[in-house]
Amino acid sequence: MRVFKFEEIDSTNKYLKSRKELKNYDCVIAQTQTAGVGRRGNIWVSNMGMALFSFALQEDRSKEIEEYKRLPLIVGISVLSALKKIEDLDYKFKWTNDIYLEDKKLSGVLVEKIDDFFIIGIGININNLDFGYAQESAISLKKVTNRHYIIDDVIYCIINEFKLYLEKEWTEILEEIEHYDYLLNRQIEVINDGKSLGVGIATGIDRDGKLSVNIAGESLKFDIGEIHIKK
Ligand code: BTN
Repeated sequence: MRVFKFEEIDSTNKYLKSRKELKNYDCVIAQTQTAGVGRRGNIWVSNMGMALFSFALQEDRSKEIEEYKRLPLIVGISVLSALKKIEDLDYKFKWTNDIYLEDKKLSGVLVEKIDDFFIIGIGININNLDFGYAQESAISLKKVTNRHYIIDDVIYCIINEFKLYLEKEWTEILEEIEHYDYLLNRQIEVINDGKSLGVGIATGIDRDGKLSVNIAGESLKFDIGEIHIKK
């Protein structure tokens, strides 16, 4: 595995996307990012003390496209599982792949595609106590435990965990995700492109990895959308 390290970079995802040649599991680690990117084009606050990294996964053309649709969820559960090994806390999995702790966001994942590579970008609040504009809605491991973590160890543990999860049966992965499901039985609003797709009760994640929501007595499935918890 090739590892490229930077004290500061614009975005680790952007860096991998712009490399002329990529190899499977090329990994970029940065101490800070000047233009960290979140999902839906959001800014990702990228302070010192966070784990900020991306790695490349080469598409295996023999696999069904359906399998790759599960990728964001597999990354999310790999992060949760690795964190559990490092510090056994009460983490929750917020569909599609955020990790929550004490009702605050601990980690986010951005999966992008360039040619036949998926670029998997992960940001985790580890040793930082400053969350920028997300001060009220974010949390770090250190904030909860007052301990200091070696960020490279966290990163390598996640990548190893991800490799293990890639080999697991999807039904087994799904069961695990369900066990940590943060949205289950909550009233939520699904929003896409700033438009509400409906308010209802989250009833779980279906076999395709879609979020099931009961809206006015009807079970609807979502594979995109920003989730706002109403109560
Ligand atoms: C989200 O929850 O919106 C996803 C956040 C993903 C942030 C990570 S930090 C490392 C990598 N580089 C980026 O620019 N974004 C991802």
